Amino acid sequence: MGGCFTFHSGFLHCLYSTLDRFLVIEDFFTKDVANSLKYRAEELLHNFSLEGHPMTKFSTGNEDGDNHIGDDYFLNSGDKIRFFFEEGAFDQQGNLKVPKERAINKIGHGIHALDPVFGPFSLDEKLSGIAKDLKFTDPRVLQSMVIFKQPYIGGEVPSHQDSTFLYTEPTSAVGFWFALEDCTEHNGCLWFVPGSHKTTPISRRFVRDPKGHGTTFIGEDAAPVDESKYVIKEVKQGTLVLLHGSVLHKSAPNYSERSRFIYTFHVIEGAAHYPSDNWLQPTPEMPFTRL
Ligand code: FE2
Repeated sequence: MGGCFTFHSGFLHCLYSTLDRFLVIEDFFTKDVANSLKYRAEELLHNFSLEGHPMTKFSTGNEDGDNHIGDDYFLNSGDKIRFFFEEGAFDQQGNLKVPKERAINKIGHGIHALDPVFGPFSLDEKLSGIAKDLKFTDPRVLQSMVIFKQPYIGGEVPSHQDSTFLYTEPTSAVGFWFALEDCTEHNGCLWFVPGSHKTTPISRRFVRDPKGHGTTFIGEDAAPVDESKYVIKEVKQGTLVLLHGSVLHKSAPNYSERSRFIYTFHVIEGAAHYPSDNWLQPTPEMPFTRL
């Protein structure tokens, strides 16, 4: 599959380094664990209240400058469990078009530290072992999310590199991406560009807007992406994908009848410089979590 690789056992760092920095580990967790995480995500959706919610939508941004809706609800979500709506969730009057359980794009960004189900899963020694295999000396977890892609409404995620959002010097971000359900071409699986970590440096960053209240991109405009270089990667429930922060990736909208729940968090090197204008900031109450 176009430079992609499926890992079963062996020398993880060697594989990760010599391939495309997009490593697929099948059967990393069991179906029972995947289902328990999925049920917990559904429970969070069911229990959250619309009362007092700012109805913040989530957008990953595009060339027209249509960015994340930058407000306090988003900027201060790093140490909380907050709910972000699909762009297509509202009608022109601002009313929800679908039940709230179907209207949420994602939950973030402190689930790994706060949730009694996702927390222990995220900070398990098996995962800290992987971080050590990837040569992290002080791995720190941040920006955890459940991304839903509910049937018929799940939004696309345009082409991007994760280090744009979690920039460190030197760059260190690695995405840990867990398939809670089968992810297919039809319900919005991942696509990536093999080798893009070598050909596409991080030229722009997503930061807190120094002039305003929200967020903005700084640096050069993203270079046009040759969409023909994208490779599809369908994965089964229970798969872990490790994704280098410079690898171009995206996912399509979900217009199918099947949901596509995934859980993801990112790991950065604690010893690396973490700029104070990055969108996500640690707080005194909750520094970035040691893995
Ligand atoms: Fe990403």
